[in-house]
Order: sequence, then structure tokens, then C-alpha cells
Amino acid sequence: MCGIVGYIGKKQAAPIILDGLAKLEYRGYDSAGMAIYDGEKINIKKSVGRLNVLENLTHGGETMPGVLGIGHTRWATHGAPSDENSHPHFNKDETIAVVHNGIIENYLPLKKKMMDKGYEFRSETDTEVLAHLLDYYYKGNPLEAITKVLHRVEGSYALGIMFAEHPDEIFAVRKDSPLIVGQNDDGCFIASDVPAVLKYTRTVTYVENQEIVRLRDDHMHFYTVDEEEIQKTPVTIDWDANAAEKGGYEHFMLKEMYEQPKTVNDTISPRIKENDIVIEELNMSDEDILAVKKIHIVACGSAYHTGVTAKYVIEGLARIPVEVDVASEFRYRNPILEEGALVVVISQSGETADTLAALRESQARGFKVLGIVNVVGSSIAREADNVMYTWAGPEIAVATTKAYSAQLVALYLLAMKFGKVRGKISDAEFKEMLNDLKCLPDQIELLLGNKERIQRFANRYVGAKDVFFIGRGIDYAISMEGSLKLKEISYIHSEAYAAGELKHGTISLIEEGTLVAAVSTQPALFQKTISNMVEVKARGAFVLAVTCEGNKEIEKAADYVIYIPETNPYFANSLAIIPLQLFGYYVAVGKGCDVDKPRNLAKSVTVE
Ligand code: G6P
Repeated sequence: MCGIVGYIGKKQAAPIILDGLAKLEYRGYDSAGMAIYDGEKINIKKSVGRLNVLENLTHGGETMPGVLGIGHTRWATHGAPSDENSHPHFNKDETIAVVHNGIIENYLPLKKKMMDKGYEFRSETDTEVLAHLLDYYYKGNPLEAITKVLHRVEGSYALGIMFAEHPDEIFAVRKDSPLIVGQNDDGCFIASDVPAVLKYTRTVTYVENQEIVRLRDDHMHFYTVDEEEIQKTPVTIDWDANAAEKGGYEHFMLKEMYEQPKTVNDTISPRIKENDIVIEELNMSDEDILAVKKIHIVACGSAYHTGVTAKYVIEGLARIPVEVDVASEFRYRNPILEEGALVVVISQSGETADTLAALRESQARGFKVLGIVNVVGSSIAREADNVMYTWAGPEIAVATTKAYSAQLVALYLLAMKFGKVRGKISDAEFKEMLNDLKCLPDQIELLLGNKERIQRFANRYVGAKDVFFIGRGIDYAISMEGSLKLKEISYIHSEAYAAGELKHGTISLIEEGTLVAAVSTQPALFQKTISNMVEVKARGAFVLAVTCEGNKEIEKAADYVIYIPETNPYFANSLAIIPLQLFGYYVAVGKGCDVDKPRNLAKSVTVE
């Protein structure tokens, strides 16, 4: 959600900024722009639309010469996507340029104040107020002006700022929106995320809340909001830059689906030692685990769906009550957290604003938070009391697949660990489950190998209007994710329903030929789900069933069946989701949708 890239150094800035912004496209955006200092003044080019519009406008950056600049991809919050609302924003004399990710919550009173002082606004954005405030407080010292502004604004922000009167430096600031800075022999970089700079440097420093960075071509200085200089230690990024490239696949989403056997294996393997599950980073002794009376899982989007699955798995295996909340609800519902509660937040990006707020809310009430996070060094990873990483590597497609799969297995490990320590799983069961876990990567591979069959089936539904996904228990959680995958990338309306609940209203939407995907992986519920399939079939639905090998009886009620290999029922989600991911993907491809960057969506949702 909004991407920021800045550069100051010996090279031409514009091509580097365009390149970096391209690496941040996955965050979601609707317009893009750049400000470059040309030796005399700051020039801005910006436009609504994809990055290639800005590339064409500037001939790949060539028409914007200069060795320092800031760039931005905007995901509209205040004011529609338009050229005027795109960033960067100027002050009135066009001597200060600002790019912003986040929301300035008190921008309306500030805007009024600045308008009363005679400032004219050219956009509807909250960001523009920053440019005018900087103008107002700037008396020759950029750092002083920035700190004065920071003391007056409320909300979240990552900022890149440049002053025409200081053509040897650019500034970066952050509060609650992600920002990193990096350096190589040629210059220094600002970026919302590491992939934007990985081609140029592996030495990056994470900017913490309310820190200001002054970047010159050969060094960086860090300050507090009170202008006190602070020392920071850079880290070396050791993941592979290729991991953030498409590597011959048509879309990142397809590539990432194909990486699932590896990410599942990478997340499980280091934590299985001598037939036991060892999760050192939990920092919980057996006594601590025994003391847990309730688990609160909080997350958004697909991560929330893994939480719903985990509720069934943890309650089933460890017999600990689990409550699952969407983060944006949790934080405002005054949740009851009592002694013995463990809060688990799940997030791919580690930057989701609501999930981060839920973490802080829990900590403020004195509860420890375990983060299940993919992005190393992200805000949630840094602020959680303990972090269990999902080793999925960088995920670029907006619709998550491999990170989702990694989250699932991380949660299975947690459930098994708790179940074993609490004496709820026998040694024999535990051993069998470990074997089933280890088989998952190969089984996922097998299902991915079946992609042509699913592609052919998906092609039939390119023109679908409504699709329903139904299932019971864990199968309902799988249905939620299957439905989300389809709708978010293909724009086909779809809904997930607990199979038994459909007849309480939604069944009235079933028409002749409506596709109903029935997920049935839990042997104890096979018959029940078959009854629900028969109900919709009787009303004209075309029923696709996803079930386990051997459940031949389902063929009586289904029009089309996809079988998943045998596994422990608690792990079935990891397998059943694969055909559903492929189905959503191929329907979207068939419709010619922008699969990796669906409209209106952002990968990293850093606003509430
Ligand atoms: C966005 C993404 C989803 C993701 C959700 C939570 O909506 O498009 O794919 O599941 O945010 O993101 P997180 O990074 O916290 O897992």
C-alpha cells in the first residue's frame, strides 16, 4: 500500500527510482510520481495509472536528469486516484517535495490552519498538508522544520522529503508505516521494503518509529524527533534477489503457488528434531505452555483464514479454547483477555496496521504476543514478544498463496507442540502426525502437477456471475480462503458458507448452473456435507467437490470431483487449498485480469 523509493548518489536517480518502484508494485497502487532535483530546481512528474505511464512520461527517467530524488506509488485513501492527488506534493514555491505512505489523521484541522494562513491546496490528499507545514516551519534548517511538523501531525507516515535549497541531501521519516534505508559505494537509498533496493545493496537499516534519517551521497545520519543524533546498526539481507523475480513464470502468483512445497518444507523442517517439535523462538517452557488457558488469534484477510483453521486444529489437538478475531474488530471490541491468555497475531507482511494495533493493544494490557510473521524485521516481527517466522521468502503477488501455506503449517506445529506437552496426543499419534506433516510438500507437488485439469475446468467458469464455496468445520475455513482467492483476482462474486447454514437464506441465490464448490475433507462430516450438496444440486447448482481419495460416495452428489491425497484430517487444508488456488488463478487468467495486481487491493495494508 503506497511505495516509497528515494535515491541520492553518483548515478542518475530517476531510473533507479523507477526500478525500485517496480519492485514495490506488489504493494498495490493506482498512480505514480517522482521528484528529481536537476541542479537548479526540483521537477515533478506524476500520473494516475500504472508505472509504465510514468516511465513513458519520462522516457524511462531520461528526461528527468539529476542525482537525487524521491518517488512514490500511491494507493488512494484521501481523494480519488488522479494526477493532482498523486505524489510527490510540492509546497507553494516548489522548493520542497514530499512523498508519503500512511494517513495524517488530523489533516483537516491542519489544512484549515494552513488555508487561514493563505496556503492554497492543489489536491484533496492528507499528504499535501505536510508540504505546506514544512514550508511554514522551514527557516533554512530542514531537520528543524521536519521535527516541528512531526510534533504537530497525528497518524501514520513514512516520508521522503527533499529541499531545493539543500541539494546534497534527502530526508526519510517514519511512524507506523514501513521504511528502510540502504547504502552502497555509489549512494544511499530510501524504500518502503527491501526488494526495492536489493539490486543495489544488501546493507540496510530499519528506520524505527519517529526516527529521521538525513541521507547524503556517502553517508546517513539518524536523529530523534528532538534532533538528537542516534547510532543505528545496519543489517545484511541474506535472501536471494531472484526470489523477488518471476523466473520464467507467467505471473508471480503461479510462481509462488509452485514454491509451496518448498515453503512448507522450509517452515516445518527446522522445527522437527529427533521426532519432536522444537520451536525455540516460542521461548515457552513446558510449564508456560501448560499455563495457557486460552489462545486469541488475531489477523486479517487470508492470515485470518489460517487462524480459523487453527482454531479447529488447536482446540482438537491441544484442547485449549481458541478465539479468532479479524484484527480491525479485535482492537475496538474491548476484548476480554484474562490470566493465562496467549495472543497470537498472524501476518505475512508484518506491517498490517490493524494487526499491529491489536498486538500493541494486547501488550498494553500486559499480555505477551506471539507473532507468526513472514517478513523478517517487519514491524510486527520487531514488536512481538516472540516471533515464529514462516519461511516463505518474499511474496510479491497481492493474493497470498505460499505465505498462507506456510502460516498453516506453522500453526499445525504449534498445535501439535501444545497438544503433546499437555498430554492430549499420544506418542503413537504424534509420530504418525509428524510423518503426515513431512509428506505434505510432496503431496502439494502432486496436486500442482494436476494443474491442466483444473485449468480446463476453470475455463468453463470465466463468465460466472456467482460462485459459492461450502464446507463444515475446517472445510468451512478452506472455503473462506478458496472464495477469497477467486473473488479477489477474478472479480467474480463468491461467498463461503458453512455448509449447513446455506439453507438459511443464501440458497435462494442458487440458479440453474450456479457453481457450488463443496469442500469435504473431514471423514466424520462426509455424509453431512453430501446432504448439503444434494440440496443445492436439487436447485440446479453444478457441484464441484474437493474431497479425500477414497470418498467415492461423493460422486453420487457431485458433478465434478477433485481428490486430495490421504493425510491427517487436521492437515487437509494444506492440500485442499491447492486446487482452489489454481481454480481462482485460471479463472482470472481466462478473464484477462491483472492477476498479480488486482484492482483496488494492496498487499501490505498499512492503513486502518
Ligand atoms: C491484504 C492482502 C491479503 C492479506 C491481508 C493480511 O488484504 O491482500 O492477501 O491476507 O492483507 O496481510 P498480512 O500481511 O497481515 O498477512
